[in-house]
Amino acid sequence: MLDQIKETYDFLRNQIGDFQPAVGIVLGTGLGKLVDDIEIQYEVSYEDIPNFVKPTVEFHSGRLLFGILGDKKVVCMQGRFHFYEGYTMKEITFPVRVMKQLGIETLVISNAAGGLNPEFNVSDIMIIEDHISLLLPSNPLLGENIMGDRFPDMSEPYTKGMITRAFEIAKEHNLKGIVKGTYVSVTGPQLETKAEYKMLRNFGADAVGMSTVPEVIVARQMNIPVFGISVITDLCDPENLEVADINKIIAAAGKAEPTMTFLIKEIVKG
Ligand code: HPA
Repeated sequence: MLDQIKETYDFLRNQIGDFQPAVGIVLGTGLGKLVDDIEIQYEVSYEDIPNFVKPTVEFHSGRLLFGILGDKKVVCMQGRFHFYEGYTMKEITFPVRVMKQLGIETLVISNAAGGLNPEFNVSDIMIIEDHISLLLPSNPLLGENIMGDRFPDMSEPYTKGMITRAFEIAKEHNLKGIVKGTYVSVTGPQLETKAEYKMLRNFGADAVGMSTVPEVIVARQMNIPVFGISVITDLCDPENLEVADINKIIAAAGKAEPTMTFLIKEIVKG
């Protein structure tokens, strides 16, 4: 894989010259509009990037963007790869390894998630404090260790300082619906049964989704500080479960998008 990372790095370097991103951003389902706030300098379609797999989910446009957000140089994945699309964990997390080579010092990662915590409301923004991986038994670190620690520490996968800062920003700017909690990742693509929601809540999770954890594991293995956001798109209360409607999920993500974008812009300022 090191050869592939180098090939992809060389390809991108050739496109972006000496542009040096400080922050990597991964945008989740229905959360692509943050790119409107990026002063884009270079844009590369995933299809053109050697060793990137092709996205299959229609909501994702699949572009790697390089530009300025606020006062920071960023590289932004508009659209991510999911395990349920049939890719391997190594394929899903490959872009994070490439972003590390490009020089990122922080990873900001977002997703659309179902709310398990009964206090949560649709379109709340959950700052991720911790995670549980139920993307088992797969894991991007299985096999030969090519970069970073063999046994990465996971005592603080999401940097406390940035979590605290997010709540300060929320207070300073009177942002509503900012909550925090534990994200649990499942494979999907089917949504969960009532019994599964009950189990996930009993495990201690506040939100459930089908992404994020693989990228965070890889980022932490390479010592990249991570800030994570889940936008709560639907409520997963087993006693009052409604039939999931993907259009409603996308609409709920859209409603939270301006606040999420503002928060990310402020966090990225440092
Ligand atoms: N499960 C339930 N609800 C969701 C999910 C999920 O994985 N993602 C977004 N809403």
